[in-house]
Amino acid sequence: MCGIVGYIGQQQAAPILLDGLSKLEYRGYDSAGVAVFDGDGISVNKARGRLEALYNKIDGGNTVSGSMGIGHTRWATHGEPSDVNAHPHLSRSGRFAVVHNGIIENYIALKKRLISKGFEFISDTDTEVVAHLFEYYYKGDIIETMIKVIQKVEGSYALGVLCSDYPDQFVAVRKSSPLIVGLGQGENFIASDVTAILKYTREIYRLEDNEIVVLKKDGVKIYNTDKEEIQKETNTINWDVSAAEKGGYEHFMMKEMEEQPKALRDTISPRIKDGRVILDDVSLTPEYVKNINTIHIVACGSAYHVGMVGKYIIEQMTRIPVNVDIASEFHYRDPIMSDKDLTIVISQSGETADTRAALDRAKEKGSRILAIVNVVGSAIANAADDVIYTWAGPEIAVATTKAYSTQLAVIYLLALHMADALGKISADEYADMIEEIQSLPDKVEEILKNKDNIQYLASKFFSSKSIFFIGRNLDYAVSLEGSLKLKEISYIHSEAYAAGELKHGTISLIEDGTLVIALATGGRLFDKTVSNMKEVKARGAVVLGLTTNEHPNIHDAADYVIEIPKTHELLLPSLAVVPLQLFGYYVASLKGCDIDKPRNLAKSVTVE
Ligand code: G6P
Repeated sequence: MCGIVGYIGQQQAAPILLDGLSKLEYRGYDSAGVAVFDGDGISVNKARGRLEALYNKIDGGNTVSGSMGIGHTRWATHGEPSDVNAHPHLSRSGRFAVVHNGIIENYIALKKRLISKGFEFISDTDTEVVAHLFEYYYKGDIIETMIKVIQKVEGSYALGVLCSDYPDQFVAVRKSSPLIVGLGQGENFIASDVTAILKYTREIYRLEDNEIVVLKKDGVKIYNTDKEEIQKETNTINWDVSAAEKGGYEHFMMKEMEEQPKALRDTISPRIKDGRVILDDVSLTPEYVKNINTIHIVACGSAYHVGMVGKYIIEQMTRIPVNVDIASEFHYRDPIMSDKDLTIVISQSGETADTRAALDRAKEKGSRILAIVNVVGSAIANAADDVIYTWAGPEIAVATTKAYSTQLAVIYLLALHMADALGKISADEYADMIEEIQSLPDKVEEILKNKDNIQYLASKFFSSKSIFFIGRNLDYAVSLEGSLKLKEISYIHSEAYAAGELKHGTISLIEDGTLVIALATGGRLFDKTVSNMKEVKARGAVVLGLTTNEHPNIHDAADYVIEIPKTHELLLPSLAVVPLQLFGYYVASLKGCDIDKPRNLAKSVTVE
């Protein structure tokens, strides 16, 4: 949700800013802008729409000179996407240029005050307030001004600020929005995410809230809000540069689906040693696990869907009750919980505002927090008591695939670890489960090799107006994700229903030719779901069944079938989700949709 990049060095800043923004476009893509200091003053260029519009406007950055600048790609919150609302925003005199990610919650009060002091506003954004505040408080010292400004603003922010009085430095700060500092040779950077600067450096500082950074080309200094310099450890990023590139694929989403076997291996193999689950990262002792009262899983979007699968798995294996909540609902409903509860928060980015707020709420209630996160050092990872990282690598496509799969793998490991601690699983079952978990990457690979059938099915149904997904228990939980994948990237209306619930209303939506994708992967509820398939078929639906190769008789109830390899019943979601991701992808591709950047969405939702 908004991407920031900043550069100071010996090279021309604008092309580097555009390059960095291209890696951050997944964070927002309704407008973009850059501000560059050229030795005399700050020049600002902005354009509504995709980054390409800005790129064309300034000829890839060639028409803008200067070796210090800041850039921004926007996901609108306050004010429609337009050139004027795009960042950077200038202060009244043009002395300050500001880029911002986050929300200034008290901007209306600040704006009124500034208007009463004679400031005029040209945009509808909350950010413009920050630019004018800089001007208002400026007495010649940029750090002191920054301190003053962040004392006045409430909310979340990552800020990059140029001041034309300081031709050889710029400043930045963050609170509850991500920002890292990249350390190069004779050049330094800021960015919302490491992918933007990976090409230039791997040495970074991760900033804590309200640490103020002053960047010069040959050095970076960090200050606290008392203007005292602080020393920080640098971190080295080991992500491959190619991880943030499409590498020959048409879309990041396809690349990331294809990366799932590797991501699963990377997440699973270091945590299974000599046939045992070893969760070095967390301290869930058997005593602790035995005393857990209830587990709460909170998350948003696809991570919430992982939680839905997780409920079935953890309850089944440990018999500990599990509540799954949408994070934005959880933190406003005064959840009932105690210090005997464990809260599992799941987040790819580690920065989703609602998930972060839910974490804080659970902490207030005394619950221990275990986070399943992909981005190392992210806000949610830092705030949790324990973290299990998914080793999925950077995920760029807005629609998640490999993050979902690795989050689910962590749930399996966790459930197995807890079931063992509670003595709820026999040695044979344990060994069987380990073997099956270890075989998941190969089985996902097998599904990915057989994409043709799914592409064919997509070609039959890509002009559907509405598509339903049904399933029971685990299949229902996976249906939720299949339906979300399809609707978010193809814009086809879609809903997922618990198959047994159909008769209580939804079945009235079935018309001649409506596609119903029915998941019937497990053995226990197979016949029940087949009955539901027959019910919709009798009312005109076209049924696409998804099952394992153990159930050839699904052909009696389905017009088309997708088969997945068999595995332990509880692990089937890991396999079932893959054809559904592919189906969504191919449908969206045939419709000519912008798969990696679906309209109105952003990958990291850092506002409530
Ligand atoms: C957005 C993304 C989803 C993601 C959700 C939660 O809506 O488009 O793919 O599942 O946020 O994000 P998180 O980073 O917390 O997993």
